This record gives sequence, structure tokens and C-alpha cells, in this order.
Amino acid sequence: MKNLSVEQTVNKVGETVELYGWVDTKRDHKKIVFIDLRDRTGTVQVVGGEEFKALSEEDVVYIKGLVKARPDKMINSKIKTGSIEIEVKELKILNKTKTLPIPVNTDGHDIDEEVRLKYRYLDLRRPRMYKNLALRSRFIDLIRQHLFKQDFLEIETPILSETTPEGARDFIVPSRLQLGKFYALPQSPQQYKQLLMVGGVEKYFQIARCFRDEDPRADRAYGEFTQLDLEMSFVEREDVMRLTENLFIEVYEKLKVSIKQKPFPVFTYTEAIKKFGADKFDLRTPEEKAKNIQAFAWVVDFPFFEKTKEGGWTFTHNPFSAPKPEFMKDLLNKKNVGNILTTQYDLVCNGYEVGGGSIRNHTPEGLKSVFEIMGLSEEEINLKFGHMIEALGYGAPPHGGIAPGIDRLLTCITGETSIREVIAMPMTSGGRTAIMKAPSTVKDEKLKELGIKLRNSGEKKTTTSKSVFDKIKNLLDENKVVYELIEHKPVFTSEDAAKIRGSSLSLGAKALIMNADKKPIMIVVPGNKKVDTSVFKKLYSIKDLEMAKPEEVKNISGVEIGAVPPLGNLFKIPLYFDQTIVDNETVFFNAGSHSKSISMKGSDLERVTKPIVGEFSK
Ligand code: AMO
Repeated sequence: MKNLSVEQTVNKVGETVELYGWVDTKRDHKKIVFIDLRDRTGTVQVVGGEEFKALSEEDVVYIKGLVKARPDKMINSKIKTGSIEIEVKELKILNKTKTLPIPVNTDGHDIDEEVRLKYRYLDLRRPRMYKNLALRSRFIDLIRQHLFKQDFLEIETPILSETTPEGARDFIVPSRLQLGKFYALPQSPQQYKQLLMVGGVEKYFQIARCFRDEDPRADRAYGEFTQLDLEMSFVEREDVMRLTENLFIEVYEKLKVSIKQKPFPVFTYTEAIKKFGADKFDLRTPEEKAKNIQAFAWVVDFPFFEKTKEGGWTFTHNPFSAPKPEFMKDLLNKKNVGNILTTQYDLVCNGYEVGGGSIRNHTPEGLKSVFEIMGLSEEEINLKFGHMIEALGYGAPPHGGIAPGIDRLLTCITGETSIREVIAMPMTSGGRTAIMKAPSTVKDEKLKELGIKLRNSGEKKTTTSKSVFDKIKNLLDENKVVYELIEHKPVFTSEDAAKIRGSSLSLGAKALIMNADKKPIMIVVPGNKKVDTSVFKKLYSIKDLEMAKPEEVKNISGVEIGAVPPLGNLFKIPLYFDQTIVDNETVFFNAGSHSKSISMKGSDLERVTKPIVGEFSK
């Protein structure tokens, strides 16, 4: 067994040591060959001769050697073992390596993320990634230590479960024993943790995996992420806030990470919107950012409900929350709905929402009233939440909790730009698992066993429209384009699109598929302009130019009119841009879906699509 790590060699001057690890680098000076031997703790220089000639970087080796102090002028103060080197006595190659598809001795930021994730097991060899994994492990350990000291129980809750509303789509799993029925993976353990309170547990926590089918962003992992989920009985809002605050103050102190302001400042939702224009904000000055100081804040007093587009009500945060006590009467009477404030508290750090929780409705009437305000029928309430309402009826204690997001907190502490840098095996932005190729197809027999028959037509439709979006994202990611994805309610005209994106019509890129002398082409003009067909025809010597029919648009692009992105190159048809598109600092366009838009620089759009550019709009 390996029982000495590379970094421990510093204290072994004069001793013969046995080391195991990888060849990080090799420098061949003819008679003398140096290698840097790497393990998870760092690298150490090993000096050898002929026996090192056959080594390649990333070979796995065993080395026995004598630890020697380096002469003063050879000391490398940049590495932990820089004051020593090892003179090799024995070398065993434990495994030769093939040439690696990606370098692992850089920070890796400039390598395409899809490739990094395909070879995540190699990507994790880079010291930066090991550091992030080690920090994550220690962070969770410190959280556990703090909560155990306070008598919390760590309890696991089911993964195969029923849907719980957290605002995302569910992942569903077919049941074999009950054909035609499905489990949902939990978007959070919200209902179970409340049921544990009914079960008299009083203080629960879990490092909980949550599953949400929502589009990824820099601060949002696709598919699954981890929460510190906790719940307590006989508490008020301030108790949970104080417990959370003390927890992080202690954990951050132990990690030697500074916090800007303790206790954390508290803003009401109204104050936050007025002061920062948003309910998550970054309180740090540029100097504090440079020093990696963490700026926590609380946001409280959110409205409980907001209007739906159909004119009804829905919850803003969590339907299981209680209103602030002074609004309980209004909730029960379903009056003054728009003004009811919830007990919800959001924890904000460095501009991210890093946690959220609330005091819950612990009476059946209160919870039922929330669903009634949301317009659910008695039958729907019973079907979806009957178990909760029933449980609350059997002497449920007043209770409340919170769920800080582990991945987001670690993103803040490390200063990483993406949440995926602090997750060992995250999914790609296209929803593919790292290394393994899920989601994948399933053999017919397996589907049969589950009573599932794929609907070919339906399946085709969704995969085509999804893949257009994926293709766009792949193209942008491959070309390292900085872009923003905006999700919104479906829009079908350039005017509505501009309105919902909050941008001017002239910044929208309108992609028109047209037939030029009976061959399809794509012409892109700003949302507020039209194609001057006579100019266009003259410019490109075209006799006949007409709009393609909706079914032709669908056939060529795979998406409906209104969702066509201005990336004719993806559909392999000639692409023409009006000059104004490339001149615009920002362009917006529908990304293969009526409800998804992308904004990016006009010059980047030109770079990734390589259009023919001319002046032909009016
Ligand atoms: P909420 O949905 O606000 O609340 O989630 C709590 C915290 O989880 C983190 N989070 C995510 N992190 C990474 N990727 C994601 N896709 C993602 N989604 C959420 C955020 C967020 O603040 N049941 C309630 C909690 C409660 O009331 O106790 C809940 O899940 O940091």
C-alpha cells in the first residue's frame, strides 16, 4: 500500500522513500533525466538516468529513491517540495499510458468543455480540479460536524418518488410492477422533510441530491445538483436564519474564507428591488472581489403569490410556505391575495441565490388555502397533496427549514465561473452525462417489459426541435462564444419577441427562409426592417425570390416559422446577412424554439455563421 504522499517527502531528507504516482513532466538532459512525479498532493522532482528514458508523461510509476536537500540556488519556492529532490534507486512502471486526448497539467479552462467532460476522469487529474473536490469534501464534512453538534439527524429520503413542485420539469421513471405508472425523481426532499417533522424528528438534515429538468446556466447544473436540506420543528423565521448564518460563519472560518458582513445584512424584497433592481445582488467592491471575500445577505418579505398569464395566482417560491403571521387570516379567507407576504427567506451570496427556505404551513387549512388560491379543484388537491394535508391534520408541529445549494456556495468560494467546475461528474450543457453516454436508447424487450411503446412521430418531432437548440449551443460553445440564454413565454412575432426580451426591435435578427430561383436560402434582417427584394435580386443576380412555405421552413430547419435561428449554416443553406446585423453590438434571436432566445454580439454571430453580408434591408 502507498503510505507516503509526495508532499510528505519534504520532511524525509536523507531517507530512502517509496513513492507512487504519475509522471507529470519529463526533462531529458541526455545523461540525466528529470521527472516530476505527481500524486494528489503535488509534484516532486526525481533525478534519474537511462532508466527514465522510456517514460512518458502520465505513465504510472513506483519509485524508490533517496531524498536529498537541493543546493540553495536550486531551491524552487513555487512548489511545496521545492527544497528537495529524489535520487532514483529503483523504478517500476505500473502502467504505460496512451497519449492523452487532453493536457492535464494546465488549468484546463481553455479546453472545450464537452471534451473535458467526455474525459472527466483525466480532467480530474489537474490540480485545480482535485483542489475543488477536496474543498467540497471538507465543506460537507464541516457542515455535518456543525449540525451534529446541534443534535440534527442525517436522514435519507427516497429518490424514486412522486413529483413535488419546485418550478422545474420532473425526470420520470417507468414502473415495471405497475405498468403505465411512473415515479418522479424529487426536485427536492421538501415534502419528505416536512413529513419527518410530523414524525417527531425535530431536527433533520441531508446532503440531498435534487433532480430538475431545466435548462442549464453558469449557476445552474442540468439534471441534478446538491442541497444541504434541513428542517426544524418549533422554530420561527429568525431561528432558521440564525442557525444557517451561524453554520456558515463557523464553516467559512474553518475554511479560512472571509465573510464581508456578520451578521448577514437583511433586505426586504421591496428594498432589494429598489436598491439593486433584483432579488439577488453582489455587495462586494472590486477589491473585495479580488480578495475572494464572500458577501452574504438575506432577502425576506417576498410576495406569496404572483399572477399567472391566464390571470390566476401561483406561488412565487414555495407552496408549502406559511404566510407571515399577520397575513394568515387573508390566506384563509383568500382575500388581499396579491399583498400577502410569505415567510420565505432567500440567502444571497456574491450575486447568486445560494439558498432558500421558509416557515411552513403546518395546518391542513392553511396549506389547502394555498392550493385553492392557485385554482386547484378539491379533487386535484386531494390527488396531488392529499397525503400532506392529511399528515398535517395529525398534530404536525410548527416547522420550517432551508436548503442552501452546495454547488453554488462552492462556486462562490472557489471563484469558478461555472458550477460544473465544483461537481465531479456534471452533465454537459446538452444534458449528456459525463463520460457515459446517457441518455441512451433502450432495447425493445426492456420497453416491452415496462409497457412502453415509443410514439415515432411524436418522438421525431421533439428530438428535431430539441436538436436544433442543441446544435446552436454546440456551435456557440465550440467557438467559445459568450451568449445569454433567455427563456420566456412563447412568442410568435418579432414585436412580441422584442417586448419579452426587453430589447429594441432593431436588435432582433429575423431569419427568413426564401426560395431564390427555386433554391432555399436564408436571409437575415433586423426585426424592424424588411428585405428589399429588388435590391437583393440585383445584388446577387437572382431572378425569382419568394418566401418559402411554412412546411418548407419546417422541412429545412426542423422548427416552426418564428423559431428559426439565423444560422443558415446549420441547415446547410446559403446565408445572407444584412450589414446592420453584424454592426449591432448585440443581436437577439429565437434559438429553435418559440420560448428560448439567445443574445450575443453581432460580430460573434458573423464569426460562427460566415454569411454573405450586404446592404439590402429597407
Ligand atoms: P429552491 O428551489 O430555491 O428551494 O432551491 C434551493 C437552492 O438550491 C440551489 N439550486 C440549484 N443549484 C444548482 N443547480 C440547480 N439547477 C439549482 N436549483 C436550485 C440554489 C437554491 O437557492 N425545497 C426548497 C427549499 C426549502 O424551502 O427548504 C427548495 O428546493 O442555491
